[in-house]
Amino acid sequence: MQLCVALDLEEKTKNLTLLRILRGLDIWVKVGLRAYIRDGAGFIEEIKKIDMNFKIFLDLKLYDIPNTMADAALECAKTGIDMITLHTSSGKIGMQSVMERLQNSSKRPLVFGVTALTSFDSQDFQTIYNTSLEKHAPLLAKIAYESGIDGAVCSVYESLAIKQATSPNFLTLTPGIRPFNESTNDQKRVADLAQAKNALSDFIVIGRPIYQSEDPLKTVQKILQTIQGLKE
Ligand code: C5P
Repeated sequence: MQLCVALDLEEKTKNLTLLRILRGLDIWVKVGLRAYIRDGAGFIEEIKKIDMNFKIFLDLKLYDIPNTMADAALECAKTGIDMITLHTSSGKIGMQSVMERLQNSSKRPLVFGVTALTSFDSQDFQTIYNTSLEKHAPLLAKIAYESGIDGAVCSVYESLAIKQATSPNFLTLTPGIRPFNESTNDQKRVADLAQAKNALSDFIVIGRPIYQSEDPLKTVQKILQTIQGLKE
């Protein structure tokens, strides 16, 4: 289980300070909409300058017509990142187009598809999609798997069902992690590290519990040690 630290701070300099504090650790770092819209592709270069071993997850959650998504995915890949996201509800042709277009990139990033946002509870999901989250998230993941993408973004509570509906090799990436009982903030389907491990989550994403903690380095080290301790 790999840790992705979300770089969602309000200023670029604050994200860079956090990265310098975490330099040398075996982590992924997640560049989301806030940082990418504000700081652009140059920010990716700055991350690499701080630690070229940081794996970079560009979380832009693409959602558009197939050709536009595929073009955007290729542009993301050109920045040299290691992972991208799209929405699985963009459909099979859209996801297949992304995977085909990425064959033209020199280094293909992992591609993950969002099933249901972790800020949705069952009721929110029902209102938007008029179907149950428990049934529909594995179905979306199955379409994503058949489209050839690498994994699904989901909450810890759907991870096992998604692997059962697809393959044990279909990866799951789970945000909404609150390692040590921190505030849930706007997240509704939250879980801790042991629950993520039991749900066979391959990647966990953690933002506020790290960057809002008093000592982010200590918090990350404690998270990594706890994950290590959970290993069989
Ligand atoms: O601060 P927190 O740990 O809640 O941050 C979670 C991060 O994961 C945010 O950057 C958010 O955009 C992202 N994310 C999420 N739920 C998804 C996909 C991504 O919370 N389904």
